[in-house]
Amino acid sequence: MFLMDLWYFGALSSQVKTGAPISVQIAGQLVLIGRDEAGQVFALRDICPHRAMPLSQGQQVTSADGQTRIECPYHGWRFGVDGVCKAIPSLTDTQKEAMDLGKIRTRAYPADEAQGLIWIYIGEDGAAAPILPAPRLDHVGETAPGLHVSMTFDCPLDHAVIGLMDPAHIAYIHRQWWWRTAKSVHNKEKKFGPVPRGFSMLPHVPSSNSFLYKLLGSKPETEIRFELPGLRTEYVLVGGRQVTGFTAVTPVDAHKTQITIALYWNHPLLNLIPNFLLKNAITTFAGQDRDAVQAQQKGLSFDPKLMLIHDADVQAMWYFKLKKEWAAARAENRDFENPVKPATLRWRS
Ligand code: FES
Ligand SMILES: [Fe+2]
Repeated sequence: MFLMDLWYFGALSSQVKTGAPISVQIAGQLVLIGRDEAGQVFALRDICPHRAMPLSQGQQVTSADGQTRIECPYHGWRFGVDGVCKAIPSLTDTQKEAMDLGKIRTRAYPADEAQGLIWIYIGEDGAAAPILPAPRLDHVGETAPGLHVSMTFDCPLDHAVIGLMDPAHIAYIHRQWWWRTAKSVHNKEKKFGPVPRGFSMLPHVPSSNSFLYKLLGSKPETEIRFELPGLRTEYVLVGGRQVTGFTAVTPVDAHKTQITIALYWNHPLLNLIPNFLLKNAITTFAGQDRDAVQAQQKGLSFDPKLMLIHDADVQAMWYFKLKKEWAAARAENRDFENPVKPATLRWRS
């Protein structure tokens, strides 16, 4: 149901403090994300192998030999960051000798952290090493985002993804004076090309109907990339500076999707706008998408046939092709072959 052998966005770095693990749900899996004493992130299946207590409800402790342990709150079993059981307090000395704790484990997920983002690798085979490195954003360097917005959409992943990439809804769902109006609708023509596991609306000078871009000054250049499993990055480069909007669309389970928007910038103009205003604007924008896809659930519950049309829905078509090819490539244990070919798409928005 969910694509495997990919890095999923897990959490923002700022959400995971040393000694205070959090619990998230990613692609139907319950995952504890923690940070050890050295500051290194780790991720475990958040289900105690003894009797299923979420380990994140226990404590993070340091063993006598200085190792980070997660202690289950139910019966005190302790696990290392590798997921292996290190202690069962109820065992007597003789029982301890008879039992091989090394065989008791909760799954440990590869975890990676950079640019203020924590990535969790969800592999088909829990013991196998990642087949690809964790994602990195271009242009932003090592900095953490200047602000972020998180939101849950009560809809399946696919509708959240295609709802966010769909160009034709903008003048309807996001009709606000400072962004788009019905009058601003005009012909668009954009060039696209493949990128690893996705596609890019290739660098271009964005349309002049957006007030925000005008504010940025001389000829900004925008690129929008989409990559599996649901990562959308919008880069705006202007006068050697960048503004980068990263959106992680992460499936929680079959019916819920987590949206995290992180904004990075070193363009001085954005420093002039109070953070709360930027945050409000992003929240308004994403909230409009959320309301749309949630309202759509009612229609979808009748299981109607859906249409995807040229060219406005071609990105959605590509998304489904990318998913299909990823699943097939993994099942056949072969290299992924990007089904997206360079193309120019035209629509009105
Ligand atoms: S359920 Fe975790 S120690 Fe018993
Ligand atoms: Fe939208």
